[in-house]
Amino acid sequence: MRIDVHLTPEDLTEQLRADARAGLTATPKWLPPKYFYDAYGSDLFERITALPEYYPTRAEREILTAHAADIARETGVKTLVELGSGSSDKTRLLLDALHAHGTLGRFVPLDVSQPALAAATEAIAADYSDIEVHAIVGDFTRDLDRIPGGGSRMVVFLGSTIGNLNPGERAAFLRELRGALEPGEWLLLGTDLVKDEQTLVAAYDDEQGITAEFNTNVLRVLNRSLGADFDLTAFDHVALWDAQHRWIEMRLRAQREMRVHLPALDLEIEFRPGEELRTEISAKFDRQSVATELAGAGFTMRQWWTDPQGRFGLSLSRTSERPTRH
Ligand code: AVJ
Repeated sequence: MRIDVHLTPEDLTEQLRADARAGLTATPKWLPPKYFYDAYGSDLFERITALPEYYPTRAEREILTAHAADIARETGVKTLVELGSGSSDKTRLLLDALHAHGTLGRFVPLDVSQPALAAATEAIAADYSDIEVHAIVGDFTRDLDRIPGGGSRMVVFLGSTIGNLNPGERAAFLRELRGALEPGEWLLLGTDLVKDEQTLVAAYDDEQGITAEFNTNVLRVLNRSLGADFDLTAFDHVALWDAQHRWIEMRLRAQREMRVHLPALDLEIEFRPGEELRTEISAKFDRQSVATELAGAGFTMRQWWTDPQGRFGLSLSRTSERPTRH
C-alpha cells in the first residue's frame, strides 16, 4: 500500500485562508463546501447517508448492486480510480465485480481528507490483499495529473459530488479529467436527478438536524483553523431549491447582528440580522443534461442506469477517440 500526499493539512489551511478571505468579504457571503470534511464533518456526512430523508446514497447503491457486474464486463479495466473516495463503501461493489471478472489489479482512491483516506485505504488493502492500493491525498479539481497511468483505467466519481461544482467549474473539471485520460478509458459518474421540491429539500433539511449540524460544522472548522469566534448557536440552517439553476443551496442565516473576528486573516466581518452565508450548492441533473455536459468535455455516454424509483442516475462513459485523420 502506498499513500502519496499532494495536499498536506498545512496546504489545506492555506487554501482555507484564501477561500475564507474571498468568500467572507464578498456580497453575498459564501464558503466552499470542501471544508465541511474534517474528522467530525466526515463522520456527520456518513450519518447523513443513513438518514431516511437522504435517498441519494441508497439509490446509488441500488444501481451499483444491480449493475456492477455489467460495468465489470463492459469495461474489463485493471485500474479503478476513485475521486472524492471518502469511505469507499459503495466502491466495494465495483471492486468485487472487477475482482470476480478477473481483471482488477490496482485501486487508486483520491480524497482531500487524509484521515478518511488512510482508514478506508487500509481496510481495502486488507480485504483485497492481491491488488495494489495507491492512495492519493489531493483535490480532484487540482491533482488529476497525479493519477498513475498504465493499464486500462476507469475513473469513478460517485455520490453526485460533481453537483458541488457550478456549471463552469463542472465543464473545466470534466475537460481536465478527459485530458488526464487516454482514448478509450472510462468514467463512471453518479448524478442526483431533478425531482419534486419537497423530496429534494427534505434530503438537505432532515428531521433529526444532522444536516444542520453538518452545515454549522464549517464555522467550527473556521474557529479552530483560523482562530475565528463564530457563535455556532446564532446561525440557522437553511436548505432551499433554486429551480432556475436546478440546485439545492445550503446557507447559514445569522439570527442577529454579529461581528466576527478572524485573527489569522487579520479580518473582521459583520452580519446583518437575517443575512445568509452560502455554504454549498448541490446541482441536480437529468439524463440529457449529463450526456450534454459529458459530450462537451470529450466523453461519450455508453450506459445510463437509474434506481427503480428514478431518483438517481449512474452513467458509464468512454473518452472519445482522437479524431481520425484522412
Ligand atoms: C457529498 C456533495 C454529494 O451534495 O448531497 C449532503 C453533501 N450536503 N447533505 C450532497 C451533502 C448536505 C453531498 N455530496
